[in-house]
Order: sequence, then structure tokens, then C-alpha cells
Amino acid sequence: MPQDKPLVVRDLRKSYDGVEALRGVSFDVEEGEIFGLIGPNGAGKTTTLRIVAGLIRPDSGEVRIYGLSPQTGDVRVKRLISYLPEEAGVYKNLTGLDFLEFIAEVYAEDGGEAQSMVDWARRVSGLGDRLRDPLRTYSKGMKRRLLIAATLMTRPRLAILDEPTSGLDVYHSVVMRGIIKEYVRETGAAVLLSSHNMLEVEYLCDRVAFINRGVIIATGKPGELKEKYGAENLEDAFIKAVEEAGMVGQV
Ligand SMILES: Nc1ncnc2c1ncn2[C@@H]1O[C@H](COP(=O)(O)OP(=O)(O)OP(=O)(O)O)[C@@H](O)[C@H]1O
Ligand SMILES: [Mg+2]
Repeated sequence: MPQDKPLVVRDLRKSYDGVEALRGVSFDVEEGEIFGLIGPNGAGKTTTLRIVAGLIRPDSGEVRIYGLSPQTGDVRVKRLISYLPEEAGVYKNLTGLDFLEFIAEVYAEDGGEAQSMVDWARRVSGLGDRLRDPLRTYSKGMKRRLLIAATLMTRPRLAILDEPTSGLDVYHSVVMRGIIKEYVRETGAAVLLSSHNMLEVEYLCDRVAFINRGVIIATGKPGELKEKYGAENLEDAFIKAVEEAGMVGQV
């Protein structure tokens, strides 16, 4: 096991055609921790996660995953992480089971490991017999459940989940949050996730960072942030953090 932290992010900056999406983002994620990046639409969550996953480059700043850079195409990084995109196109004509088997074959060392990955994902997806149907017949939430299962079955040391429960109904949101927590408890892995559902992250995350307009305005345990801002819940704490940062009218 590598000695360094699962994730260190330092002073990320990124502009798209003159729009400053990230204006100096820094945070760390520890072993066995679920860390939530939370903020409103356009805050820079997906941009941060895509940089961490090595899919896009920052203009400046650094990312280290167990001491390694995701920007260099190092296969060791690819083995350590797994990324759940915000919106994923899936191969429409594959069945859910074909899809899981395809991913398992890419990641597993041998047939036995591939089979145990698929068995785990079948159970976790909760899709039962529908796994034999083509993906084009799946609802949005069914695709999401399949993708979460596929993302975690490869046993990443750092799972990067962009709005994991987006599009899920209340029941399946609760189930998936439980699965993410259980995964971390069993494996000691780290999770970086994004959400704009502050109540969800209050339940799920050990620590959170509030991000607004490309800037992290507060970081801490949910309880600490509520206390710091004298807030009843994280939504309230976020509003107060925006006020304190002098960003009123800039959400
Ligand atoms: N490919 C792109 N081209 C141009 N601008 C982009 C691109 N991707 C993101 N942006 C801009 O960067 C900023 C941050 O976007 P980002 O997708 O990171 O936000 P987000 O926090 O994930 O929002 P959401 O909650 O809506 O998913 C926004 O102003 C967005 O318009
Ligand atoms: Mg996003």
C-alpha cells in the first residue's frame, strides 16, 4: 500500500475560454474518509473531479494520488482510482450484465476475480433480472445504479463520484449511500464525491468543502461547520459561509 495520502489537491486553477471555473482549489482526502465537495450549479465540482481523475488538465496547481500525478497517464494511478461521471453514455445494446463483465475483464487480474467483481456488482445494483435487458431499456436511475456498482466493483483506493445519487429516487438514494459507506468501512478506501444536496452529504460525508464560483469557502466536518456558522443544517451553514466570504449575490 502506498504511504502517501489518497489525495492532495493544491491551488488548482482552470479557465474555459476566459471563464474562470477554478480560482485556486486546495484540499486533502485521508484514508477511510468520504469527502464531499458541495456547492451550487457551476461552482466547479465536475471540473475539479475531472482534473483529479486525469481527464482534463488544470492551467496550474497540483494533484497527487498516493503521491502520483494523474496527469501523466501512469497506469499505477489508473489502478488506484475509479471515476463515476456526472452523465455517462452507456453502450445501448449491451445488457447490464454484459456491461459489468466488460468492465470486470478490463480491471481483474484473472477470471475468478472478474467473476467476484460481477457478483458483487449484481447484488449492489439491485437490478436483479433486469441485468439481462439491454441498457437502452433502462431508466435514468437504473443506469445510475449500474454505473455506481461498476465504479465500486473494481475496488478503487480512491473512488471519485460525481453526484452519485443524482436521478435516484428516495429509496435507491438511501440504498446507494449505504453501499458507499459500507464500501469505505470494508476496504478503508477514500471517496471524493460531489453533490449539491447538502442534506445528503451531511449524512454521508466525514468532511466537506463548500465550493462557490471556483473557490473553496470553508472545509470541515459537517458538525464543525454547523457550529462555526451557528447553523441548524449544512444548507444554512453554506448560505452563511457565502455571506462571510463577501460573495452575496454571487452564488
Ligand atoms: N467544457 C466546458 N466549456 C466551457 N465552460 C465550461 C466547461 N465545463 C464547465 N464549464 C464552466 O465552468 C464552470 C464550472 O462548471 P462545472 O461543471 O465544474 O460545475 P459544477 O459545480 O459541476 O456544476 P453542476 O452542479 O451544475 O454540475 C461553469 O461556469 C461552467 O459553465
Ligand atoms: Mg457538475
